[in-house]
Amino acid sequence: MIVVFGSINADLIFVMQHLPQPGQTLLAQELRIEAGGKGANQAVAAARDGAEVVMAGAVGADNLAESGLAGLRGAGVDLSRVVPADAATGCASICTDAAGRNQIAVAPGANLLARERQVEDGLLGPGTTLLVQMETEGQETERLILRARSHGARILLNLAPALPLALQALQATDLLVINEDEAACLANRLGSGVDAGALHAALGVTVIRTLGGEGAEAADNDGLIRLPASPVEVVDTTGAGDCFVGVLGAALDKGIALAQALRRAGTAAALSCTRRGTQSSLPTAAEIDAALG
Ligand code: RIB
Repeated sequence: MIVVFGSINADLIFVMQHLPQPGQTLLAQELRIEAGGKGANQAVAAARDGAEVVMAGAVGADNLAESGLAGLRGAGVDLSRVVPADAATGCASICTDAAGRNQIAVAPGANLLARERQVEDGLLGPGTTLLVQMETEGQETERLILRARSHGARILLNLAPALPLALQALQATDLLVINEDEAACLANRLGSGVDAGALHAALGVTVIRTLGGEGAEAADNDGLIRLPASPVEVVDTTGAGDCFVGVLGAALDKGIALAQALRRAGTAAALSCTRRGTQSSLPTAAEIDAALG
């Protein structure tokens, strides 16, 4: 089973030709309102890949809550650990350009009121893969990681966005997934190199560094795995990292070995880049299987 403790957002997506510069006003071609949030995106990605998923988080008592929850509901995610909070539902303003790049500002709102105790001990045993990110309160995430460690769950931390987390919590994870910017921030803090091998040596956990169009690399006690990128026509990269993490978690949870799980996750993330949107771009298990051939 997958348990996600993380953010639930409503994404306001501005489809633009170019990303606005500071001080510049540009007109968008289209506005899309979609369910988002790194936690919710990862939960939906795992559920579409066939995993049983429980989501824990918080939303406000406002009109954005239903926008944030719609994708989770549609994917059959268990929402019994999502609570109402006295703050606005998390909301992201996302500008995308014709090259598929994006620029994102997030108001976390209710996400910061999600509490790790919403996930009971019984959900943190060896049969669980726990997915956590950095759009909820850091201390709650730290406490949940340490509690999950003591109960035997596999713990996958996506250190996105790159905010500080206690070293003890980082070292209590099983897998750390980071992109190039996040790896640079972490390496700066640890005084290590930025590549997966150097970060693995510094932390002692499996480190997976995603490299955008260059694929990904993973380092663990068995050595280094390089995952080449799947060549696709990129339309929109929003949520591709979440797709990667959700499908990786689902694959590992099914008992698939790391190298194959990485291949599946990379293929799914590449597929998501060929479609516009956040959760609407996440592929199903059948689509991933077909792309893997
Ligand atoms: O990773 C993409 C996500 O980041 C968006 O869905 C947005 O809500 C922000 O959390």
